[in-house]
Amino acid sequence: MSEKRRLIIDCDPGHDDAVAVIMAARNPKFELLGITTVRGNQTVDKVTTNALNLCQYLDIDVPVCKGMTRPMVREGPPVEERLHGETGLDGPVFPPLTKKLDPRHGVDFIIETLLASDRPVTLVPTGALTNIGMAIRKEPKILPKIEEIVLMGGSYQHGNVTPAAEFNILVDAEAAHIVFSCGRPVAMMGLDITRQVLCHPGIVDRMRQVKTKAGKLFVELMEYFSMTQKRVFGWEGGPLHDPTTMAYLIDPDCIETREMNVQIDITGGPSHGRTNCDFFGLLKEAPKNAKVAIGINVERFWDIVEESLKMYDPL
Ligand code: BDR
Ligand code: CA
Repeated sequence: MSEKRRLIIDCDPGHDDAVAVIMAARNPKFELLGITTVRGNQTVDKVTTNALNLCQYLDIDVPVCKGMTRPMVREGPPVEERLHGETGLDGPVFPPLTKKLDPRHGVDFIIETLLASDRPVTLVPTGALTNIGMAIRKEPKILPKIEEIVLMGGSYQHGNVTPAAEFNILVDAEAAHIVFSCGRPVAMMGLDITRQVLCHPGIVDRMRQVKTKAGKLFVELMEYFSMTQKRVFGWEGGPLHDPTTMAYLIDPDCIETREMNVQIDITGGPSHGRTNCDFFGLLKEAPKNAKVAIGINVERFWDIVEESLKMYDPL
């Protein structure tokens, strides 16, 4: 077998972030080096507690480092309490927390881990891009150590917080600008595909048959998330935005991408936070700086989720 792909997950768990972590941590294709957290779905303290609870419950033995409490330049939208609840991960009840927070700041953990690695590392941001943007600005020597940045965010069509902008990008558009213009490979899993993988009740019932700790947790997470998604957006199930990053990494054939120029709107106007994607290649001279997801094999996606849940200890 070829070498495992090294990953750092930078997240704001968050129900769909939690599923992305579940998919990564036991997959034999990956070596998960650590988890960093960022303000987004809830305050950074709350999402960090959620990451620790998740790791403790599923015996995921990796460092969890708390990252940025605020965006780099301007205040973004409020935390996403409507969808993720007061804790940021409402639904499951975890045992008392004993797993300790790693004392390193998330930004420094990313820098130190990349510099110390003898081969490139893939960054998987499933929240705002504040930690990654800060790490690139603080220590540009990390750039050659970044194999790829596989992120959930943006959309070449419509937004989900404003008509133009998706939440993760809007929270810190300036950080997103740094990431998309950093010169390293970027793969963007946007709303265009993530809205196609709605975790409707039939999917929840299917995963209920997976009798592992991860299967049980998935059901508890999705029962809550589906309820709030229905209330806020009218969806019949919660879109599993963040797990599309892992589906792409586990089986690239599951997701169709197209290389294009992507520029982040940081003008502060009504389209602030929009990922302007040159879908038709109109900007002939502009660099194709990202692979943008344009299609997803929905059946294959759910198979990958199910296979991932089966990798955990039985109940
Ligand atoms: C993104 O926003 C967050 O609420 C989700 O976790 C996901 O990362 C979707 O817009
Ligand atoms: Ca997220």
